[in-house]
Formats: sequence, C-alpha cells, structure tokens
Amino acid sequence: PRRLVIDTDPGVDDALAILLALASPEVEVVGLTTVFGNASVELTTRNARAVLAAAGRTDVPVATGAAAPLAGAYAGPVPQVHGADGLGDGGLGFPQEPALASTVAAAEFLWRSAQGHPGELTILALGPLTNLALALRLHPDLPRHVAGVVIMGGNALVPGNANPCAEANMLGDPEAGDVVLGAPWPVTMVGLDVTHKAVLPGAAIARVTAPDRPANRLLAAALPHYRNFFERTNGIDGIYLHDPSAVAYVVAPHLFTTAGWPVRVETQGMSRGKTWPCLGDTDDPAPAAWQGRPTVRVAVGVEGDQVAALVEDR
Ligand code: BDR
Ligand code: CA
Repeated sequence: PRRLVIDTDPGVDDALAILLALASPEVEVVGLTTVFGNASVELTTRNARAVLAAAGRTDVPVATGAAAPLAGAYAGPVPQVHGADGLGDGGLGFPQEPALASTVAAAEFLWRSAQGHPGELTILALGPLTNLALALRLHPDLPRHVAGVVIMGGNALVPGNANPCAEANMLGDPEAGDVVLGAPWPVTMVGLDVTHKAVLPGAAIARVTAPDRPANRLLAAALPHYRNFFERTNGIDGIYLHDPSAVAYVVAPHLFTTAGWPVRVETQGMSRGKTWPCLGDTDDPAPAAWQGRPTVRVAVGVEGDQVAALVEDR
C-alpha cells in the first residue's frame, strides 16, 4: 500500500475523506496533520481525533499544525457550510479521546514521516497549504524524500467556490499555495474542475448514514447541515465530494484524466487565491511568471458516479 499523511481541516467532507482513506486497502494512513480552515485549528484537531475514534483508529497519530496562514490572519470559520464546530454542528457529541497526539508539530511531522518511509510517502492535502509550505521552509530537501503530493484545491478552468475567482483552500493561504505548486515534487491538483462533477446523491447519503456504527453515526450527525448548504446554494440533491475526490485520485487514479501545466497562485487583488495554469499559445518561452515552474498535474476529468460509488462502498 501507498503510505499517506493526510493534512486536513475537518470539515465535513474532510471527515468523509479520512474515513474513505482508512477503509481503502490501497493506502496506509501513517498520520494526520491538522490546519486551520473550515474551523480553527483547535477544532479541526479535535474533529480529526473524533473521526479517528469513530473509525476505531486511535492508533493513527495526529499532529497539530498552523493556526493561521503565512501572511495575515485566519479569516474565520464557515458555519454556513461546515457548521460552527466544523462537523455540521453535530460533531461535538463525538468523543475525541483517546488518540495518539504527536510530540512534534505538523510541518516537522511531515518531514519525519518522509524520513520514516523514504520515497514512499504521499502527502494528501485537504485544507489550506500552510503546513506544507512551512515544512518546505524548515526542510527545503523535503521534495526529494516524498513520492508525491496530491492536493484538493484550486480551480484551473472553472469558477471558484469561495468567490467567483478562488477555491476555498487556495484562498485560505494563497502564498502557501504558490510555494507548494512551485516546489520540485510531483504535485497533482484535484480541484473544482473535477470535484464539482462528483456528487454523493441524497439517496446514497441516506444509505451511508443509516448503519448504527460509530463512523456512520458521525456522518449522520455531520452530513445533513452540509447537504442543506449545497441544496440551498447550488440546487443539487447531495454533496460535492471535494476532499473524498482527492482520496479517490490516490486509490483509483483511472477514474480521472489529467493535464499538465505550470500553475501559479494569484496573491494580489480581487483574484487572490485563483490558480492560474499557464494556458494558451505561450509555451516558447513561457511568460515570466511561469518560467522555471514545475509542471503540475491537474485533474480535469472524472468519472463522478464511480467516485460516488467508491465512497459509498468503502
Ligand atoms: C474545500 O474547502 C473546504 O470547504 C472543503 O473541506 C474542501 O477541502 C473545497 O473547496
Ligand atoms: Ca478540507
């Protein structure tokens, strides 16, 4: 199995993604690192532990990470999407202990995990990219030690979701995003280009929330609020599978098609947080802003129904 550290800000869809990864024999989750995002890092860490406890996997260590982006302050939680507690206002009833707390912070945990599994570790990032950027700052050599990075974030060819320009994770820390997409490691961006084509329908939500087992009960508490948000704002019956799609890309890459471009993240002005692939008739030479940047693999197509089926099955 591929070894995974999941960097995450649970987050309703993060919770679903973590459960999907834990239930997937193709991967071994060696730890979770937490970051601010859908809620404060205190709450996302708490929620990460609650998800592990519900899955019966309190052996998986949790390392707490950044409370705020590289530049500026944390913009605050998004209660209308993920609830005030980050888990659809149903998460605080779930026990978070016992869980293995890492003695080192997230950025150092990423480095040590890479050292522990030389060349085998995939970092799966489901929140703002601050911890990954901090790990690169502490250990510029990190890219040589990991198999790759898969991130849920960005929007290459489609509008944003946090605003017309930007996707929420990239807007959470655009400076970090630009660093991570510019580092010399194999990066795949699983963004809104595909996650807005992968929906877990209402009927499937009913089925995954019915069993009287802790992980399903946690989903039953967290999903309704999240589902109502999408029904209200996007008019869909179900939920977009943002973070679970990134896990699906790791365990079932054949469900996706990708394209390769250097990608910058805008850090200025009204399109702050927008991911810009180097599109157009510009390859020779690339415009200065993209020169010297690595090619990022960008997911552009997905078998959405099969991603949904995978989530439900697992
Ligand atoms: C991303 O933002 C968060 O709301 C979700 O957890 C996901 O990681 C989607 O844009
Ligand atoms: Ca997330």
